[in-house]
Amino acid sequence: MLILAIESSCDEFSVAVMENGKIKSNVISTQIKDHTKYGGVVPELASRLHVENFSKVILDAVSKSKVIWSDIDYIAYTNNPGLIGSLIIGRLVAKTIGLYLDKPTMPLNHMEGHIYSANIDNDFEYPVLSLVVSGGHTQIQLLEKPLDFKVVGTTLDDAIGECYDKVARCLELPYPGGPEIDKITFGGNSSAYEFPKLNLINELDYSFSGLKTASINLINKHRKNNTFNIKDFCAGFQNSAIDYLLNGFEKAIVKYKPRTITLAGGVSANKLLRSRIFSIGNKYNICNILLPDLKYCTDNAAMIAELCNEYIKYK
Ligand code: KG4
Ligand code: ZN
Repeated sequence: MLILAIESSCDEFSVAVMENGKIKSNVISTQIKDHTKYGGVVPELASRLHVENFSKVILDAVSKSKVIWSDIDYIAYTNNPGLIGSLIIGRLVAKTIGLYLDKPTMPLNHMEGHIYSANIDNDFEYPVLSLVVSGGHTQIQLLEKPLDFKVVGTTLDDAIGECYDKVARCLELPYPGGPEIDKITFGGNSSAYEFPKLNLINELDYSFSGLKTASINLINKHRKNNTFNIKDFCAGFQNSAIDYLLNGFEKAIVKYKPRTITLAGGVSANKLLRSRIFSIGNKYNICNILLPDLKYCTDNAAMIAELCNEYIKYK
């Protein structure tokens, strides 16, 4: 079974080839440098750059995989959610290749792809509880069986990645701010500043807008008083955000008793989150704590290929 997968939902154009469940190539062309000067992704620019880049990425991915075009069985692509212009280009490219090769195309969900990124090099044992943390989503998802996605908790306002990016912008750090804050925290004193106590809503739902506003107010106040230390601030902010995320996830573990816990989405690359999830898993004797490899945390087509492979297997 040979799958060609395309992911183009935001500012990355990525193509992967998977043969019998094994990733043969995963090429990602990122536009981060082009958007940094605007402080965030400019949708129109993202679409235009996808048009410029897509052919190079496809040819590179197919040549690295050493497969023959005519052997491809399925073309999978991200259908939603994402920036509409970026999604349309991915869809158009996938449909054109499908038409040319006379092979079926499979539209897939980006968040489901993120969840299955941890299954590329591992095998989920069900039920699976996934903490889905990206620039646009913060969810706790329960999968009682393969591909059976159920959102059991969600943010009611900002996503965690968005909160990191907005606070980083106030700190004048480059976009995307999440990895920048994560780097700066090293050696910082997380108790130097007082962050608000964050409460879960409706049992397993989050709200990150309070942390964002309180953080921006703290930055402004301490800068004015010349008492601002960026390392200590970032350590405190990160501690507060990750504590809150895991507080909800821990409650969900107690409620749903998963056999596997996992992280998904861009924020799953966060160092503190990756280490703390192991402590929680060990506390509840969960044998399978499966994290996506760092190269599969942010947007990539390998996760879309993996999801396509699962749909072929189970549906
Ligand atoms: O999944 P993703 O690549 O794109 C979306 O689907 O949103 O996630 C991007 C988000 C950004 O908000 C970025 O700041 C955040 O993931 N991110 C991080 C880290 N690496 C990426 N946030 C915190 N710590 C990190 N190490
Ligand atoms: Zn994503």
